[in-house]
Amino acid sequence: MTRLTLDPMALKNLSTGRFGKAPVITPPFGRSVLRWYRMHGRHDLPWQVKGDSYRVWVSEIMLQQTQVATVIPFYERFVRRFPDVGSLARAKTDTVLGYWTGLGYYARARNLHRAAQIILREHDGVFPDQLESVMALPGIGRSTAGAILSLARDQRHPILDGNVRRVLARYFAVSGDLSRREVEAELWQHAEAVLPKSAALAAPFNQAMMDLGALLCKRTRPQCAVCPLASGCRAHALETPEAFPRRRHKSARPTREVTVLILIDPQGRVLLERRPDVGIWGGLWSFPECPAGQTLERWCQQTLNIRVGKSPGLPVIHHGFTHFILKICPQLVRVTAPASAKIEGEGRVWIHPGAPGRRGLAAPVKKLLEQLDKGYE
Ligand code: ADE
Repeated sequence: MTRLTLDPMALKNLSTGRFGKAPVITPPFGRSVLRWYRMHGRHDLPWQVKGDSYRVWVSEIMLQQTQVATVIPFYERFVRRFPDVGSLARAKTDTVLGYWTGLGYYARARNLHRAAQIILREHDGVFPDQLESVMALPGIGRSTAGAILSLARDQRHPILDGNVRRVLARYFAVSGDLSRREVEAELWQHAEAVLPKSAALAAPFNQAMMDLGALLCKRTRPQCAVCPLASGCRAHALETPEAFPRRRHKSARPTREVTVLILIDPQGRVLLERRPDVGIWGGLWSFPECPAGQTLERWCQQTLNIRVGKSPGLPVIHHGFTHFILKICPQLVRVTAPASAKIEGEGRVWIHPGAPGRRGLAAPVKKLLEQLDKGYE
């Protein structure tokens, strides 16, 4: 397996400025970044495997909203269970979500699964190598497609993930609101302009830019004193690097409240329900929800055909989503009679809190199960 490091030939070319017959001079921006990367960048990440687009794809999706250190164990378990496009495409959605439990943003896992099925159907199971075909897959935008094809296939494409956006916004002192189309377009132009001309340098350069953003050019307290780009960086010259990129004004997130029922049977098992495929936690397993405006007793009688008495409430949990905060009010409900046929069946299952199996679980559900297992009551 070839590690994704700066290969010696590329390094030599970097110093001589020659690629094949035509002289290609890498401008100072690229040279500084690549030199820094060689000494301080990340070269041993488990997905840095040249030629394996599948693994690079899985890692890039996991890294979209999650940091490297968190991703590593999830990535390793995931590719052990789903070593290629075919095994992922043929797996049940539930199994895939099970391997995503704890990573959050589950739409990523559902898209990954759907994309694997498309690759199997439309590309004979081979990850495509055209930018447009890659971008046509669910969950892959221009930056992720550029990252996959540059890192795995040595194609020359710029990237613009959150880290690179920050580096470029500071270096060029781009002061506009990044959610505006024209500001985004300006950043893409910069990303293209600073990318070395040689395709052989796209992988180390892109990895270097991501590492630089994550390790030095951080959102708060950037380490300009040791940054290889400091001498040309406009935000540094202005002595206001943290003012770039301009922070989006976040409006306060509304709160939604939901009552969830922790039904416990005489054997200490609790009832989980598979949520609908669309909406929050789509396809994940959760506790049944009592709709607003219904009493818990009535809902249990009507929906599950069980009588329940007054039940104790457990501590409220606040769970943050991008656009709202979910206030979860768990109610413990003891089921004394044998569980009726209506309770179990399609999409409902009794499990022991300490042994939920490899099911996709929303983070607060996982936490509640752990607390119940430790003897919450
Ligand atoms: N963030 C997104 N892609 C990344 C990568 N390949 N390495 C480190 N951080 C990343």
